[in-house]
Amino acid sequence: MVKRIDQIRKDFPILEVEINGKPLVYLDNTATSQRPVQVIDAIAEFYKKYNANIHRALHTLSNVATELYENAHMKVQKFINAKDWREIIFTRNTTESINLVSHSLSYTLKPGDEIVTTISEHHSNILPWQMLRDHFGIVLKYARINQDGSLDLNHLSELTTEKTRVVAVNQVSNVLGLINPVKEIVRIAHEKGSLVLIDAAQSAPHIRLDVQDIDADFLAFSGHKMLGPTGIGVLYGKKELLDSMEPFLRGGDMIRKVTLENALWNELPWKFEAGTSNFADGYAFGAAIDYLSEVGLDWIEEHEKEIVNFLIPKLLEIDGIHILGTRYEDKIGVISFFFDDISPETIGFLLNEDGIAVRTGCHCAQPLHEFYGIRGTARASFYLYNTVEEAEFFVDRLSSIVRKVRS
Ligand SMILES: Cc1ncc(COP(=O)(O)O)c(C=O)c1O
Repeated sequence: MVKRIDQIRKDFPILEVEINGKPLVYLDNTATSQRPVQVIDAIAEFYKKYNANIHRALHTLSNVATELYENAHMKVQKFINAKDWREIIFTRNTTESINLVSHSLSYTLKPGDEIVTTISEHHSNILPWQMLRDHFGIVLKYARINQDGSLDLNHLSELTTEKTRVVAVNQVSNVLGLINPVKEIVRIAHEKGSLVLIDAAQSAPHIRLDVQDIDADFLAFSGHKMLGPTGIGVLYGKKELLDSMEPFLRGGDMIRKVTLENALWNELPWKFEAGTSNFADGYAFGAAIDYLSEVGLDWIEEHEKEIVNFLIPKLLEIDGIHILGTRYEDKIGVISFFFDDISPETIGFLLNEDGIAVRTGCHCAQPLHEFYGIRGTARASFYLYNTVEEAEFFVDRLSSIVRKVRS
């Protein structure tokens, strides 16, 4: 395994960078991951060898670009075990994917229809539903979490009724790092006839996904959090649903025929990919999927577990530390913590002096921080190229910062 991670680290040129004269210890993977040379090269390769607009021409280069872009959809299909590659829509990111669904559903929902989400969501899985509440008379309900960060399934179940049209939950919270029982949530929702949208922004990069097994109706994630380029994300949706839904954005490429009176929508996934697609980054996202598949999601999950199991007991030795999401057995490599007497910003600033990059603040999850009665946390998040040694260095520096600030 040690040899394996050494090989992995060599693929990420940024890990050679020094910050304040110290080797970079990048623990902000939840915000965005780093990219391997295979992905960086794929971007350049596309522009050097394949660049042409897709779908629109009969010339060779356009056909090649189209095929490569379609292939990237197929790689994602395989990655999450979707039934059909046409169920894979490329968007800009998770945020756009969720907005696509909320906007599209706004045409069919009626005042009084209900949507259930949770208090532990990223803002991008709250605000699109608040839009439906504020402008379309939809009732929005929030399921609670337990003190240990786990979802209160009984509460979610109580809130989900015959009036519920969508249950929208994260599979892994970007603050708690806990894996939610999405199969069970889908079962509860389907029993009441509701659709389910899974925010997989923090699960797709870290654990193996099987959308057919989960039976999710929609699932959203971002390429940039899983070794891919920025500006490319995914909405998975069941084909029959996507077929029946109104398009989100309207314009070129998403139509089959246009008259001055009306338009006929293109087939999936193009119906939901209006305008010139981000085909170069789509191609490079395919390279990221190849890389993750080669390393293996099972290995990544195990690797992060090893780091978390090593780190948590050591962190808990630091006087006055509070960790969020304490169901450690269900945790991926995301650890958010705070102290009553030291601000997260102080922690983040001083860790940076040692080359350690962590995120501080509310991580776009203000309602969750409100639930815990705190203003913010520091968050260390790990990925496949992080090592136990880095975790050891992080906890060592954190202990010494805490001692120094208090002295
Ligand atoms: C759980 C979760 N959902 C949604 C998002 C939004 O992702 P993006 O900014 O790529 O749209 C994030 C980003 O951190 C996230 O962690």
